Amino acid sequence: MNMNNNVCQDLTVLSCRPTGDPSLVNLVLSSPGWTCRPGQFVMLRPSGWGPELIWPRPFSVCDVSEDGLRILFQVVGRGTRRLAALAPGDTVAVWGPLGRWFRIDEDRPNLILAGGVGIAPFVMLARRDRTDNLSMLFGHRLGLEHYPYGEIAARIESEAMQQKTPADIADFEKVLAGRIEALAGKGQVLACGPEPMLKVVRKYCLQFGTDGQISLENRMSCGVGACLGCVAKTISGDFVQSCVHGPVFDVRDIELGA
Ligand SMILES: Cc1cc2nc3c(=O)[nH]c(=O)nc-3n(C[C@H](O)[C@H](O)[C@H](O)COP(=O)(O)OP(=O)(O)OC[C@H]3O[C@@H](n4cnc5c(N)ncnc54)[C@H](O)[C@@H]3O)c2cc1C
Ligand code: FES
Repeated sequence: MNMNNNVCQDLTVLSCRPTGDPSLVNLVLSSPGWTCRPGQFVMLRPSGWGPELIWPRPFSVCDVSEDGLRILFQVVGRGTRRLAALAPGDTVAVWGPLGRWFRIDEDRPNLILAGGVGIAPFVMLARRDRTDNLSMLFGHRLGLEHYPYGEIAARIESEAMQQKTPADIADFEKVLAGRIEALAGKGQVLACGPEPMLKVVRKYCLQFGTDGQISLENRMSCGVGACLGCVAKTISGDFVQSCVHGPVFDVRDIELGA
């Protein structure tokens, strides 16, 4: 496998199955022949899409190997509904690997904070050789069996909290705050999940002075810096394309609003 960037190729669907809940789908495509870093993403556009769906859709690489390119996605709208209907043998145009990745600090603890389908990029991260400096806190809505949690927990120290009510969400936030505070000056957090969770992570990282990286999921059209559809605001007030300057950013570099 090589590390070629930004290649576009047609890959074949090997499988496309709900994880058990119809809103969460595991898609496996034929091997792209490249490797990538955890946090990088691909743009997918099935060849069966017509002019009604012009733009490809961005997804984190869940894992990639000689066995294939694995994506975990949530069905939220038109594009993901059509992706969920893919069948073995269909072809998908794939651009990637794209963007910046999570950078591990080898000398200090790295705590993964994953929310829901935001667990996807950490499957590959947990497969790295050295895992003694990695742990994970996972917040989830569906049953744990729908996520690749077990796969990650088999390799690194992991803990999960399910959120079914607003009180559960408040409890999760308290635990997040405690973990982020405990790492101040000692380690870093790596976060991927829904935007409200990322705002909470950023807030506590800044409050306690804890190092952190967060992966933004701004809407994207081109994925390569050309359309300016995905801009994020930096703390200096500039706007940068999150597809090329991110999607993984240092918490101190970007604004996320209240
Ligand atoms: C770098 C990156 C990595 C991503 N990785 C994953 C992943 O691994 N798994 C996964 O399930 N999703 C991931 N996403 C989000 C995914 O790209 C969107 O959910 C998808 O493009 C929605 O397409 P759609 O046509 O189904 O939705 P649309 O019909 O376009 O929109 C349906 C609804 O979803 C909302 N929506 C659309 N795009 C986003 C978005 N990017 N973030 C939040 N809400 C959105 C819309 O506001 C609308 O309410 C990622 C996004 C980015 C930018
Ligand atoms: S998606 Fe086009 S510039 Fe980022």
